[in-house]
Amino acid sequence: MRIDILTIFPGMFDGPFNHSIVKRAVEKQLAEIHIHNIRDFATNKHRNVDDYVYGGSAGMVMMIQPIADCIDRLCSERKYDEIIFLTPDGILLEQSVSNRLSLKQNLILLCGHYKGIDERIRENYVTMEISIGDYVLSGGELAAAVLSDSILRLIPGVLSDETSALSDSFQDGLLSPPVYTRPADYNGWKVPDVLLSGNDKEIREWNYSKAVERTRNRRPGMLGDKT
Ligand code: ADE
Repeated sequence: MRIDILTIFPGMFDGPFNHSIVKRAVEKQLAEIHIHNIRDFATNKHRNVDDYVYGGSAGMVMMIQPIADCIDRLCSERKYDEIIFLTPDGILLEQSVSNRLSLKQNLILLCGHYKGIDERIRENYVTMEISIGDYVLSGGELAAAVLSDSILRLIPGVLSDETSALSDSFQDGLLSPPVYTRPADYNGWKVPDVLLSGNDKEIREWNYSKAVERTRNRRPGMLGDKT
C-alpha cells in the first residue's frame, strides 16, 4: 500500500511514523508513506497557501492551486483508490472504514488547516471525507496519522502475530476482554484461575463472556443481538 499525505506541516509526521507499527510496515516494504509539503506547490511570490474567506467572515482558507497541482501531479503518476480529506464534518472513522481502506493500493490523505480548504477541492477532487471524532483539531495531520496507523496495522505481515489484529476490539463487534501477563499473583492481585487452567474451551468462553460484559457496560449500543 502507498499513502501520500498532503500537508503544510510535514514535520508533524516525524514522530508518529518513525516508531512502532507504522515504522515496521515501511521497513518491511509493506507500505510506502510519502509526505508532500503543499507549500512546495505554491506558485505565488510569497508561497502563500491560504487566503481570505469570500463573503467577509474572519479567518483564512486554504487555496485551490497548490493543493490541485499537488494532487494532479500524483494522479498523473498512478491511479489512486481514494482521495481522503480529514475533516470534523466527514464520516466518523470506525473499524469497518479502516478495514475497507486497508484493502486499497494507493491513498491520498489531505490535511486541512485554518477555516478549511476551498470547497471546490472537496467538490472536484476529494472522494471521501473522514472525521476521527466529534471534536475539532487544529488541523488534519493528527487525524491523518491516526487513520494511517489504523489502516497499516491491518495489512497482513505488519503485525508479527497476524491474528492479533483480528482479535482487536471492534473487529467482531465487541470490545476486547481484559488481558493479563506474569506474575500470576502480584501482591495478592490474582489472574483469574480459568486463564491458568490450560482448558482452551473454558478460556474461549471466559474471554467471550468478558468481552460481552465489557461491551454491555461501556458501549451497549454495539451489542445488537449478542446478549
Ligand atoms: N481536522 C480537524 N478536526 C478533525 C477531526 N476531528 N477529524 C478529522 N480531521 C480533523
